[in-house]
Amino acid sequence: MGPESHKCLLFFIIGACLVAGGLGLGVNWGTISTHPLPPKIVVKLLKDNGFNKVKLFEADHGALTALGNSGIEVMVGIPNDLLATLAGSVQAAVNWVNQNVSGFVSRNGVDIRYVAVGNEPFLKDYGDRFTHTTFPALQNIQAALIKAGIAHKVKATVPLNADVYQSDTTLPSGGNFRADIHDLMISIVKFLNNNAAPLMVNIYPFLSLNSDPNFPIDFAFFEGASNPIVDGTLTYNNVFEANYDTLISALEKNGFPNLPVIIGEVGWPTDGAANANLKNARKFNQGLINRILQGKGTPKRRTPPDVYIFSLIDEDSKSVAPGNFERHWGMFYYDGGVKYQLNMGRGKSLVPAKRVKYLAKKWCVMSPQASPSNTSSVADSIGYACQFADCTSLGYGSSCGNLDARSNASYAFNMYYQTKNQSAGACNFNNMATITTTDPSQNGCRFEIMIDISKTPKNGSPPSSSSPPMSLQKMVGIILIFVAGTISFAP
Ligand SMILES: *[C@@H]1O[C@H](CO)[C@@H](O)[C@H](O)[C@H]1NC(C)=O
Ligand SMILES: *[C@@H]1O[C@H](CO)[C@@H](O)[C@H](O)[C@H]1NC(C)=O
Ligand SMILES: *[C@@H]1O[C@H](CO)[C@@H](O)[C@H](O)[C@H]1NC(C)=O
Ligand SMILES: *[C@@H]1O[C@H](CO)[C@@H](O)[C@H](O)[C@H]1NC(C)=O
Repeated sequence: MGPESHKCLLFFIIGACLVAGGLGLGVNWGTISTHPLPPKIVVKLLKDNGFNKVKLFEADHGALTALGNSGIEVMVGIPNDLLATLAGSVQAAVNWVNQNVSGFVSRNGVDIRYVAVGNEPFLKDYGDRFTHTTFPALQNIQAALIKAGIAHKVKATVPLNADVYQSDTTLPSGGNFRADIHDLMISIVKFLNNNAAPLMVNIYPFLSLNSDPNFPIDFAFFEGASNPIVDGTLTYNNVFEANYDTLISALEKNGFPNLPVIIGEVGWPTDGAANANLKNARKFNQGLINRILQGKGTPKRRTPPDVYIFSLIDEDSKSVAPGNFERHWGMFYYDGGVKYQLNMGRGKSLVPAKRVKYLAKKWCVMSPQASPSNTSSVADSIGYACQFADCTSLGYGSSCGNLDARSNASYAFNMYYQTKNQSAGACNFNNMATITTTDPSQNGCRFEIMIDISKTPKNGSPPSSSSPPMSLQKMVGIILIFVAGTISFAP
């Protein structure tokens, strides 16, 4: 599909504006949560919001089953800790593909398009851990896809972190692969090219901003910067384009100027760091979605890449090694609630998850009789609660960072209580805690009630969404173009 097909078409006769074909809204669906939303609810959430591509970090059988016959394209990930096994023998890869891919394609009607081998295996922090297993694992998975007779449809690739390339000159045109893995990257790129598979990279403007206090803030977003980077005839107004084109330069320099590139992850968190908030996340993701809707490429490559936004829902048990923000990348809260509104095109806005079952409407808080100034005892209790529950919103600059000492303790007690399914013994804390039915939420700090994952929706598809699947829209669009003639414009 050319860029024309990504544009909004204005139809004289019906006066309606449709997105005609080619368009894809992708999103990452991570499940590292104490109480993951039931897969059926998530699939409905994806459909209701027009996401037609989803990336999974592992071959979660519940998620795959729910994605059957959904019309959603699926990318299935392989965690890094499986790479050694898969690199070790073709048979291991054959077993993996048979159990986690082929069966779901043929029996369950899951539209699997990609297998993502490893997850940022060449991240500098990992040192050499996966440098010797990633490429052999990719080769064995490719062989297994061929053996299963699905290699024409299911492509194998590797989700790479953006530090596999860098610029020799600080300008995008100076892009090349990192010296220590240069030859390995060339081998992988050549292999992908031979198998008509895309390269995949994760790009994080938020991390650029978060790690460098001197980073110009508007360069992290999309709407023009006061400090553009001028690179020959090309001008860069945001780090996303500059970063992406650094990769394109690296590909050009090494003889692969046309290799398709997919953005495997890009997004903005809402909590857990100074620049992680609702306003910034909304601004970034709206800018990103506008680009996707407009089919906008970069200065160096006009064809837009496929993009998978990171992320769909918050994950309350992810490692916080990268920072407290790591549990807050979702466009939706842990329960599928809308965090901030986005214009998703065609006048549509985000809609929350439906049919979510919650635990009872009650919270655990510090009791009025207990004193928050009993410092050591309170600190111990908070420490205990936060060891098992997610307290990342309590940090400095976070959504609950301004609570007074009493509410601070209450927040921690409640998170523990909810994480423990509101079980009877989970709201005690040396008799300092009590249960209330009055919502203690305040000033943007949300005291959650956990979802009840024991009550999952019954079998059978949930009521179908009001919007037709993309293929039907595409058909309608094509028929109308043929009948009516159109003008097309970039929104
Ligand atoms: C995938 O297949 C392998 C067999 O190779 C199996 O051990 C594994 O549990 C399956 N599921 C996932 C999520 O990887
Ligand atoms: C302080 O905490 C200790 C230990 O839980 C408790 O024995 C004591 O009564 C508390 N004092 C006050 C004033 O709450
Ligand atoms: C909230 O609790 C944490 C953990 O004990 C503590 O570090 C922080 O100082 C507390 N904040 C207030 C305002 O009491
Ligand atoms: C909460 O309930 C769910 C569903 O019954 C269960 O799977 C989970 O282990 C429980 N969590 C805790 C911490 O008890």
